[in-house]
Amino acid sequence: MNKSYYLETYGCQMNVADSELIEGMLSQEGYTPIREMSKADAIFVNTCAIREHAEGKVHSRLGLFNKVKRDNPGVIIGVLGCMAQNLKDELLVNKPYVDIILGPDAYRKLPDYLRRNEKKNHIVDTKLSRFEVYDDLFPSRKQGINAWVSIMRGCDKFCTFCIVPFTRGRERSRGIDSIIAEVSQAVSDGFVEITLLGQNVNSYQYDSVGFPKLLEAVAAVEGVHRIRYTSPHPQDVTEELLDVMASHESICNSIHFPLQSGSDRILKRMNRTYTKEHFNHQVDMMREKIPHIGISTDIIVGFPGETETDFQDTLDVASQVQFDSAFTFKYSARPYTKAVEYEDQISEEEKQDRLERLILLQREHTLEKNKKTIGSIQSVLIEKESKKSTSQWAGRTDSNKWVIFPKENAAIKETVPVQILNTSGISLQGKIVHNH
Ligand code: 5AD
Ligand code: SF4
Repeated sequence: MNKSYYLETYGCQMNVADSELIEGMLSQEGYTPIREMSKADAIFVNTCAIREHAEGKVHSRLGLFNKVKRDNPGVIIGVLGCMAQNLKDELLVNKPYVDIILGPDAYRKLPDYLRRNEKKNHIVDTKLSRFEVYDDLFPSRKQGINAWVSIMRGCDKFCTFCIVPFTRGRERSRGIDSIIAEVSQAVSDGFVEITLLGQNVNSYQYDSVGFPKLLEAVAAVEGVHRIRYTSPHPQDVTEELLDVMASHESICNSIHFPLQSGSDRILKRMNRTYTKEHFNHQVDMMREKIPHIGISTDIIVGFPGETETDFQDTLDVASQVQFDSAFTFKYSARPYTKAVEYEDQISEEEKQDRLERLILLQREHTLEKNKKTIGSIQSVLIEKESKKSTSQWAGRTDSNKWVIFPKENAAIKETVPVQILNTSGISLQGKIVHNH
């Protein structure tokens, strides 16, 4: 009999990619996706544990799923991903309506567990693996532009604020042949952009193949127009990697380069393994080798022990680098991590105040950076209709900036030359250039 499922995904792109793997398995098992959760035979939520706020959202969704289950007691509720790993005991005690709890290395067993759940026992599998990379499973992708391709899983860096090494386990890389096979499959399915994914994407190492070699191999696949990757660690951004980026037209001129803090003292406490001087030096090298490279970052404010002087150092580095964009976070204490034990935690008011100051500064930088593109002609991949107007397209530049422009005769998935005319802040406005 055909069964249906409803799936919600929270968190990073890795979770989006994992959900596509899960959907592939569910489809093999005879389950079809459905939009109305009240009619589904199974409800799944793929969860994130990176900050407390992310968990809060999932808890409130679970409350809703519980209500659905009261009307439809046969529905199976599954909690998947990082939070399953982190909160299994709490869930078992306080949320008995959750039937299946699977950590990020246990998805392969989902079909089997769904069959077994017919006996209505709780199923919990949060065992982490040193080997699982799901390399023989094909994800079910929605017809689109960009295909996420996971190339490694887990993280061994142990930044002291981060729960990922505990929820996703040890670092392991997927074989190059299966990666290239998946990229080729995605291209023949019509995808034009490939984004290589990993918690620490540039730590990729399989036999003698490191990340730069892998990038070259992906660039050699016929039909791949654009290649992106996320997220790298500054420690592993090498000259060789930048040279490979610079020498391939299809590898986008953009990098996510997480600073976290601009204070050497705090970086050390975070176990980030670089100094602000080294970080600045790497930015200089990037801009020298790849002019007009777009650089985005992640910054945490209010890490334990962060003084006003430390925070000023972060503002200074941000001003020096002038990031194109930044994801900014208030430090959130996470279980298992080293930093949760530090006694000099920062007050919520202080964190909020620093976050607001950082956001204001970054807004200026983003605007300045975007203004500098006015007048230039950018190569833009058309991805979707603009949210604000049905007569306009939205697409991204090579350097990862969104541009809104009149549709004219162009179509989704085409790459067109667009002259930038204006910017209102985060996105750019332009018009297609003809006879370019
Ligand atoms: N508190 C706040 N931000 C965090 N991040 C990771 N862990 C925490 C935490 N405990 C941020 C980092 C990372 C991004 C994905 O999330 O900036 O790069
Ligand atoms: Fe977390 Fe650091 Fe690993 Fe990134 S590198 S996943 S921030 S521990």
